Amino acid sequence: MTKVIAMAGKGGTGKTTTSALLLNYLIQRKMTPVLAVDADANANLNELLDLEITATLGEIRKEIKGEIPSGMSRDQFMEMKIHQSLIEESGFDLMVMGQPDGPGCYCAANQYLAMTMDKLAENYKYIIVDNEAGMEHLSRMNLTTIDYLLIISDPSARGILTARRIADITGPLQLDVKERHLIVNRAPDPVPPALQEKIDQAVAEAADMPLAGIISSSDELINQELSGASYLQLPENSKVLEQSFAIFDRIFA
Ligand SMILES: Nc1ncnc2c1ncn2[C@@H]1O[C@H](COP(=O)(O)OP(=O)(O)OP(=O)(O)O)[C@@H](O)[C@H]1O
Ligand SMILES: [Mg+2]
Repeated sequence: MTKVIAMAGKGGTGKTTTSALLLNYLIQRKMTPVLAVDADANANLNELLDLEITATLGEIRKEIKGEIPSGMSRDQFMEMKIHQSLIEESGFDLMVMGQPDGPGCYCAANQYLAMTMDKLAENYKYIIVDNEAGMEHLSRMNLTTIDYLLIISDPSARGILTARRIADITGPLQLDVKERHLIVNRAPDPVPPALQEKIDQAVAEAADMPLAGIISSSDELINQELSGASYLQLPENSKVLEQSFAIFDRIFA
């Protein structure tokens, strides 16, 4: 059974960073094949993986509204196009959603996408969806069961309570979330006891969102981003990998 892992959290808290670290984890633990979906209109997961985007699903959607080659049904054509748009790497494929059609559009093209996604999803053990703050793409892609919702927060009590509210927007979207896990990112190292206390208190108040762990603010990540090298190539002994892998072990083991 394919497991769907989706990211949630306020802008800039580290959803894309966590997606890239998680992909690294799943590959190293041989929990593959993985489909990584960049569901941010301003796609940037590919940059952290040092990959070029070839075609986005937004572009494909436009194509299938037009003429389709003779001898092919529209869903065959859609399926072929989606496969062509995947960036295929060792252990994972990357799919880039691109610009959406606009709010509330459930036109025929989106139905084909949803149908094709069902079939496509079966090829993977895990699907990671890197969302922007909203999570509309998930229902658009027919990914309505989220096995793991990873909620990323900045290291503050207020941030955590905001994270809790963001986690709740899955309700109106009719997403079925099996597990929620909070990850506090960019914390000072070491975490001052007063901050740890605030975090613990906020976690206790924000019901049903256990703390999976804390990732320190990391110069290694900043340097990796600056150099343009893939987050899959972070040195094995780096602290950020150690911390994030311990968190993922807690969630997925
Ligand atoms: N632990 C960390 N240490 C240092 N820098 C970090 C850390 N986590 C994230 N950053 C930096 O913070 C910035 C925002 O991170 P990221 O893009 O992952 O956030 P996001 O939640 O995906 O943002 P958006 O909402 O815009 O998609 C990036 O420049 C990233 O390199
Ligand atoms: Mg992002």
